[in-house]
Amino acid sequence: MFETFTAAPPDAILGLTEAFKKDPNPHKVNLGVGIYKDAQGKTPILQSVKRAEEQILKSETTKNYLPIDGSPEYAAAVQELLFGADHEVISSHRAVTAQAPGGTGGLRVAADFIAKMMPSATVWLSDPTWPNHPSIFKAANLKVAVYPYFDAANNCVNFAAMLDAINKMPAGDVILLHACCHNPTGGDLTVEQWRQVGDAVAARQLLPLIDFAYQGFADGLQADTAGLLEMCRPGSELLVSSSFSKNFGLYNERIGALTLVGSNEAAAQTALSHIKQAIRANFSSPPAHGAAIVTTVLRDPALRAQWEQEVTEMRDRINTMRHLFVETLNEKGVERDFSFIAQQRGMFSFSGLNPEQVKALREKHAVYIVGSGRISVAGMTEDNMDYLCSAIADVLQ
Ligand code: LMR
Repeated sequence: MFETFTAAPPDAILGLTEAFKKDPNPHKVNLGVGIYKDAQGKTPILQSVKRAEEQILKSETTKNYLPIDGSPEYAAAVQELLFGADHEVISSHRAVTAQAPGGTGGLRVAADFIAKMMPSATVWLSDPTWPNHPSIFKAANLKVAVYPYFDAANNCVNFAAMLDAINKMPAGDVILLHACCHNPTGGDLTVEQWRQVGDAVAARQLLPLIDFAYQGFADGLQADTAGLLEMCRPGSELLVSSSFSKNFGLYNERIGALTLVGSNEAAAQTALSHIKQAIRANFSSPPAHGAAIVTTVLRDPALRAQWEQEVTEMRDRINTMRHLFVETLNEKGVERDFSFIAQQRGMFSFSGLNPEQVKALREKHAVYIVGSGRISVAGMTEDNMDYLCSAIADVLQ
């Protein structure tokens, strides 16, 4: 049977890493996948994580299953980090959280939940968005559509067009919003724009689904919740898929969460019962180790302080690379204005390089970026900057 199948194309992002690994060029640079690299080009285990793992290794007594929706201590820690400990959605018990294998796992559970409970809803995605977003919702048999988001000619968010599109969305649809560090463009909304989006989403009776994969990478752990908090209005409902892949460096532990805010506690509990059904049919119950790490770090004041410092260092290094990249391109005589990259936030920016230039970067210089022109700034270092910018200057000629 399998002989009749044709092969699926490689993944737009993870497929690049496979090709990168095979490339023999000693100068090769991977700015494809969004993984943080330190100044030495390594993706180290955070020290706070290592110390938490030592504690867990000594204290854990069982490998028994977690509940379907995961560890309750983890759920509480996630909610506090998302909303702040004193937030009304927590004190009123209208927020519920299910542990999920990474942000992707959280999105897929959300997709299954929406497909079951709101099957006629369309899921609206920003144009452009993370290439896995449409795949996830289509895999759950949901309809997807796009709303305008980025003005590529001017390298900024096209907010008027976005708001106009939201104001035309049918009631009961789902709108996916990137909480911060928009992937792939690096262009975020201002707090005032979030407020207007919150007004429009409420007026149109849309369900916001917030993808929060980069908390702490834009302006700070708390500052980055501003958009999410704008969506939390009295009686409002929302979904949040959050991830600790990036801000804890726990990429391969697959640890994230799906949080649902209902209009009241009873509605939230009813919704949670369906989320649990989706999880049971999908992966039964979540893996434990990543959640144990996150809970241990967030609950221990010394570990938490160390982790917050480590997040700050990662964010600062990325922002330093943004500035160095713009400066080095200038030094190489590149005339095109890339200064917007220094203003953007998070791991990614849209470089504006076209598909031929992306191909030339890869084939001539072994510099790997996503076909859309997205670059992962987090993969730049002082050591690869000169080579990288020479390569870009060459393909722009
Ligand atoms: C990315 O966009 O590079 C990351 O979110 C990793 C992934 O899974 O695609």
